[in-house]
Amino acid sequence: MDYRKRVEFGRNWHPARYRVLPYFEHEKKHITPGKRVLDLGCANGWNMSRFGQYGVDAIGLEPNGVTVRHALEHGSVTQADGLILPFADGAFDVIYVQHVLHHIGDIAAALREIGRCLRPGGCLFLVETVEDNPIIRWGRRLYPSWMGDEVNAPFYFAELRRDLARFGFDVTHAEQYSIAFWLWETVRDQAVWLEAITPLFVKLEEKLQTIFNRQSAHCFYVAHRRRDMDRHVPTAVLGRV
Ligand SMILES: C[S@@+](CC[C@H](N)C(=O)[O-])C[C@H]1O[C@@H](n2cnc3c(N)ncnc32)[C@H](O)[C@@H]1O
Repeated sequence: MDYRKRVEFGRNWHPARYRVLPYFEHEKKHITPGKRVLDLGCANGWNMSRFGQYGVDAIGLEPNGVTVRHALEHGSVTQADGLILPFADGAFDVIYVQHVLHHIGDIAAALREIGRCLRPGGCLFLVETVEDNPIIRWGRRLYPSWMGDEVNAPFYFAELRRDLARFGFDVTHAEQYSIAFWLWETVRDQAVWLEAITPLFVKLEEKLQTIFNRQSAHCFYVAHRRRDMDRHVPTAVLGRV
């Protein structure tokens, strides 16, 4: 997925994709009409355009002025850093963070700020790229950035789940996905016409998932801000495994 390109959601996406990208089904349960939703690190507004299809006008936040201009086509967008959210305490029911936390770097500060802006019981929907996949792990050693954004916080699936609990969130769902499918997506980004053969890679991915699920490149978590979060949040910087 090339986040610098303009949004094409709903066009040129083979339905077979949804069999191997499980977070789509889960996000629909939380991003529902009437909810106040923030898409943190929204890039060009790809997620916001999808949330619009669910009947939700999400607010975007993005530090990069170039992608902000595209995202504005999909709703209201604030240009700011994810570590200092310009919103009131408890302003959102859902904060959606997709492939952003590993760029932000200071996970402790980011989760504290997300917790502050969520209402008690509010939902953090977190989609991430993790080091459990050896190609991601070694690829980042050789090339420690993605689409021009530095990877400042590499983490593993289990480690991030522990961090969420430490920082005052109850994780109600955590799932790994995409062993090799993410590689296909980067190839397909080069030519949209390749989408026609995506079903072949979906089949391959389904087979790989039965054997190598623990080596997935991606994962997602549904986590809820504890009502007594402030008493649980440690001030020390998070330790890494
Ligand atoms: C891989 S892209 C993901 C974009 C989008 N969330 C999506 O899923 O389509 C990473 C995004 O994180 C943003 N980002 C990087 N550092 C950030 C920070 N400190 N605060 C907020 N966003 C940040 C980048 O500008 C970029 O748009």
